[in-house]
Amino acid sequence: MEVIRGVRVLQARADAERAAGRRVALVPTMGALHAGHLSLVELARQRADRVWLSIFVNPAQFDDPLDLARYPRVMDDDLEACRKAGVDLVFAPPAQEMYPEGADTCVEVTALAAPLCGGSRPGHFRGVTTVVAKLLSAARPQLAVFGEKDFQQLAVIRRMARDLLLDVEILGAPIVREPDGLALSSRNRNLDPEARKQARVLVAALDAAEALVAAGERDSGRLLARVREEIGQAPRALLDYAELRDPEDLGEAPARLQAPTLLALAVHMEPGPDGGERVRLIDNRVLRPG
Ligand code: PAJ
Repeated sequence: MEVIRGVRVLQARADAERAAGRRVALVPTMGALHAGHLSLVELARQRADRVWLSIFVNPAQFDDPLDLARYPRVMDDDLEACRKAGVDLVFAPPAQEMYPEGADTCVEVTALAAPLCGGSRPGHFRGVTTVVAKLLSAARPQLAVFGEKDFQQLAVIRRMARDLLLDVEILGAPIVREPDGLALSSRNRNLDPEARKQARVLVAALDAAEALVAAGERDSGRLLARVREEIGQAPRALLDYAELRDPEDLGEAPARLQAPTLLALAVHMEPGPDGGERVRLIDNRVLRPG
């Protein structure tokens, strides 16, 4: 497995793969790899001749400096996990490779990036689209894989690729969960044991809404009330948002659900009486009435 740190070197490798007629899939990550990331590698492998994975904790997408400082960094473990998973190449650039001195350009998707996480994390998606555009132009892959766990991120990146006429296929991958249902996330490492236990309310809330829809409920107000009630069961979970949205354009869902509708949740798991960290978690599910 090759580990590359420089953009120019990576671009030369990309040219060589293209010249040899090989299809490259890129899996962009911020490291602290878990089974969710590795499921993207698996999907990439089925669709391409070479799987490349990038590890870069992108400062531009953190709206909170404390969150950036606390983001887990475990490069040696990550490289080992990549080797085991059969990744062909890891791109792990230092910050100055991605943001050269004087870098002054961003890529911004506007309307799609405004609601949900865009509302509570100003500038976050501008940082994401800027770095993903750079990663795509550094690795020149035919395919790039992103998880549906970050549903809005996937939608925003698809739109960016379409709008900028990028010659890359953007592929979405299903959410990978812990046995108790909690969506895998690098941030789960920062949960203390009690917060980890209570974090299950996210999936409990999604399950409750899905069960209501299966039982015939179509009223969006009642569905969201049920979701809030469920989140309220966990004293350390502070709701950031619970919203019903059109899964395609993320527009607000109608008062009565008729078509598949995204239920998107974000909570802050608050520190306990003995300390611990504030950890932001997100989850989502597409509800399918009828
Ligand atoms: P990161 O949080 O490391 O996630 C990398 C990729 O893994 C994303 O596409 C994310 O949706 C996916 N992923 C994370 N948890 C998952 C799970 N439980 N199941 C399935 N897929 C999962 O997302 C980012 O990094 C960054 O914003 C990035 C796109 C790399 C740009 O910096």
